[in-house]
Amino acid sequence: MTGSQHAPRDVVVHPDATVLAEAAAARLLTRLIDLQSHRSPLHVGLTGGTVGIATLRAVAASPVRDAVDWSGVHLWWGDERFVPDGHPDRNETQAREALIDALGEALPASNVHPIPALSDEVPTPEASAALYASALTEAGTPAFDILLLGMGPDGHVASLFPGHQALGAQYSLTVAVHESPKPPPLRVSLTFDAIRAAREVWVVAAGAEKAEAVASALGGASVSVTPAAGALGTERTLWLVDAAATAALSTAEAPAAPKTKDLWTAVDEYFAVLVPEDVALVDTRASAVHAGLPDIAVTPHQGKLLHLIAQAVGARRILEVGTLGGYSTVWLARALPADGSLVTLEISPEHATVATDSLVRAGLGDVASVLVGAAVETLDRLVADGTEPFDLVFIDADKESIPRYLEQTLELTHQGSLVIVDNVVRAGGVLDPHHPDARVQGIRTMVDLLTDNPRYDSTVIQTVGTKGYDGFALLRVL
Ligand SMILES: C[S@@+](CC[C@H](N)C(=O)[O-])C[C@H]1O[C@@H](n2cnc3c(N)ncnc32)[C@H](O)[C@@H]1O
Repeated sequence: MTGSQHAPRDVVVHPDATVLAEAAAARLLTRLIDLQSHRSPLHVGLTGGTVGIATLRAVAASPVRDAVDWSGVHLWWGDERFVPDGHPDRNETQAREALIDALGEALPASNVHPIPALSDEVPTPEASAALYASALTEAGTPAFDILLLGMGPDGHVASLFPGHQALGAQYSLTVAVHESPKPPPLRVSLTFDAIRAAREVWVVAAGAEKAEAVASALGGASVSVTPAAGALGTERTLWLVDAAATAALSTAEAPAAPKTKDLWTAVDEYFAVLVPEDVALVDTRASAVHAGLPDIAVTPHQGKLLHLIAQAVGARRILEVGTLGGYSTVWLARALPADGSLVTLEISPEHATVATDSLVRAGLGDVASVLVGAAVETLDRLVADGTEPFDLVFIDADKESIPRYLEQTLELTHQGSLVIVDNVVRAGGVLDPHHPDARVQGIRTMVDLLTDNPRYDSTVIQTVGTKGYDGFALLRVL
């Protein structure tokens, strides 16, 4: 399939689907700007799917979008579900909502070329395919400058499915698809002839469910088995994938992962001399691993930061939400003065037992108490009991509940208390208002709550290190 008229494939791996969509958007904008410096108009083929639409949203949200002369950009689609105009399943409808509406008058309506929808005038996918082929021919395409294609878990691209007869369509730019294995059954798609005439083909794929198909396509499977293997551009074929989608590649096939995380880890290790762990800290970490707890505790650097902050504010009473095996608890509890105390909340009895045992072995059994139960309820109980206010609060549990925790924290702190909320950046996922992850939405709600809040003064610091890219919020109770 890699005939001489097609460029070899480049594969770029991003940490996750959110970063992938953001990076694809940045890449698309930059490429359009570069190409416009030497040719116009440009023809871009769009794709649907979760990452495809997230990419368009990221384009719409980028200030760089205004550097593109959209009057010189024509938008097309690689395939379409054959349903009526405005149907939410149409890639066109989703693209309008994600990007085209946002571009407004910058993108002339005549530059948008949807695949004709089901209507009285266009009653069959054959009629739609013929009209779309004529529009492509009239516009001098299908030499798409950039053709974005999503890939399904079965390896399909556009609406070209494994083993389906539409795969063999020849001498035509488009094909009507009947009995699509993925609903709806009627579709219209570009053919391989049209796809392979594109100058640049960018295949985007995210998620572990795509891993087998990624490995198959990049491993040179036949097009009838994995259609994505046949998606090739004349000048460039670029695979933009997330790490999960590369899981089935053998080490030899696997493209080099980004070096950034290795670098961040190496730098953390270089500075590790400043944060030596003593026997108790090593024992606490090892006990959590031994008990099979997830590897999501703070790093030694982060633990030491908590320790230093607790000392700096002279914390005498510390509250922690999210104990796990007690690793951060040990760092915090050790910053307390002789008459200090720490309360840590944990929903899992198993985690709480591991943590309590470690705290006792670390000689902190009298200083730190682990309260088992859902933190929202435990915090309510602490409020009802008239608990003495805390000077420092570390929130490191379920992100969905952060807004509620912050409200409850106001009942359990005093003016000047400090609150730290961990993992609030989520590799940049917080940028997406439509992000499907409830944890991300919890953080976005936190930001709404903190905006102009008369009781909290706050900032967020992004961090990189052994645990990747994230960040924490630092709040002062007013
Ligand atoms: C990221 S871990 C805490 C890590 C710990 N602070 C450390 O750095 O060593 C989050 C913990 O919060 C607990 N958790 C999750 N939801 C909770 C809830 N609703 N109430 C209390 N604890 C919860 C989890 O069981 C898990 O042990």
